Amino acid sequence: MLHRRHFLAGATISGLAAPAILRAQGYLRDYPFQLGVAAGDPASDGFVIWTRLAPEPLALHGGMPRVNVPVEWEVASDGGFRNIVAKGTELARPELAHSVHVELSGLQPNRPYYYRFTAAGERSLRGRARTLPAIGARVDAIKFGVAGCQHFEAGYFGAYRHLAKEDLAFVYHYGDFIYEYSSDYVFVDGLPSRPVRKHAFRSLTDVNEFRLAYAQQLTDIDLQAARSVHAFLSSIDDHEIVNDWVSDIANWKMGLDGNDPDAAPPEVFMLKKQAAMQAWYEHMPVRRALLPRGGMVALNRELQVGDLLSMQLLDTRQYRDDQPCGDGFKPACPDVFAKNAQVLGAAQEKWLADQMKKGGAVWNGLAQQITMMSLDRQRDMDDKRKILNLDSWAAYEAPRERMLQRMAGLGNCVVLTGDEHQNFCGDLVLKDKVVGAEFVATSISSGGDGSDKRAGTDQWLSRNPELKFANDQRGYVICDVNRDAWQSHFRVVDKVSTPTNQISTRATGLVERDLTGIKMVEG
Ligand SMILES: [Fe+2]
Repeated sequence: MLHRRHFLAGATISGLAAPAILRAQGYLRDYPFQLGVAAGDPASDGFVIWTRLAPEPLALHGGMPRVNVPVEWEVASDGGFRNIVAKGTELARPELAHSVHVELSGLQPNRPYYYRFTAAGERSLRGRARTLPAIGARVDAIKFGVAGCQHFEAGYFGAYRHLAKEDLAFVYHYGDFIYEYSSDYVFVDGLPSRPVRKHAFRSLTDVNEFRLAYAQQLTDIDLQAARSVHAFLSSIDDHEIVNDWVSDIANWKMGLDGNDPDAAPPEVFMLKKQAAMQAWYEHMPVRRALLPRGGMVALNRELQVGDLLSMQLLDTRQYRDDQPCGDGFKPACPDVFAKNAQVLGAAQEKWLADQMKKGGAVWNGLAQQITMMSLDRQRDMDDKRKILNLDSWAAYEAPRERMLQRMAGLGNCVVLTGDEHQNFCGDLVLKDKVVGAEFVATSISSGGDGSDKRAGTDQWLSRNPELKFANDQRGYVICDVNRDAWQSHFRVVDKVSTPTNQISTRATGLVERDLTGIKMVEG
């Protein structure tokens, strides 16, 4: 009878075997929702809600039995769950680390919703996320966040607690959600110091190890707080797999200078990438269309905010040619000017061109990873040689120029970038004409406490007239967009070496619709 009763309790799940339910209930050694909840990929009629069952986050398989487990979900229009507008049951499968991705639709546009999960007799944290305004609807203003680069060992994620308190439509996460390596020492003021906290691994190779990295990252309560109140638009950069990878090439290894003869050959790298991308998918609130296939993830996609903003999320890693000139920070070699070089790859570039041509929105946002301005990184004023960051658009002049030409034809493009672990912004210039604006968001923790200016910053600014601002503190960017102007607020925390910190607005970059260049308001 016991079997029968449990079977009926779970009978809404077609094909679920009774013993599976029995094993799941009462067999979890601890609270299964320790990794929190999240929402993502918002649209005007819904978003994705996510959780993962992991009663022992750092144990193999998160401490879960190797069976399917039903997870009930509810969505309400009020925080007290008196008015439930959608509910259902989803199977958490061991093949996907007992993660659950529910794609909601049929919700009302431009309003907050609340969601929660129940499994094995336990209930999750309450999550909140907003739907976007209706497609084509007139929208006067939108505010959203930009964040990424969160090295667990480099600092605490206090910036995320401040981000959670901001009133935002969504957060664009440009990547480096995890870092793939561990360090015994970090250098502060040139002296060896201990990381503020330690990874539970030294390096990552298979899917269980990548899962461990995400699980440990998500035990951070500040990160959970931000994910529980804002819908995230998730992308990837390099450290989800290995520093500076592109395409099927893992040609750079931390701590070694230049090409690493021990780096995985392409076919082996793609196996590792498949494991990394599976674990990424399992922990991100993204749509099923982003489930990796053959190691590839369909990351490029569009987000539309009424008639105010069309934002294209770009993938600058999977289809890019190898970094020219051996990567790193060096003077340009002839390969920088190769006519057939690719950053986005032909298919994505065509998709982007079509999206941008479509028009209809007041602003075009390009949300991506690597810096698009071709900046001279030389900080020694006596050295006249221009130094490029070869892991940026500056190392791929032909596709960069095609991109700037496309932007010149539109006159409303703002580029959002990460990867650099510093705040800066500047004008995108083609043949002495400003064709766009670029805002580079700093890191949540990567790089440690930092300071207002790195050594040589004033020289760096003077060598690059298009560069309007630079700062080396941690934090995030808030984009405050209306029909006349786009403001990006550089929100910085005083330190990340302590669990709590103070936030302030270091500066604001303002772009008006005439796109005559960024104006800075320093805070
Ligand atoms: Fe990073």
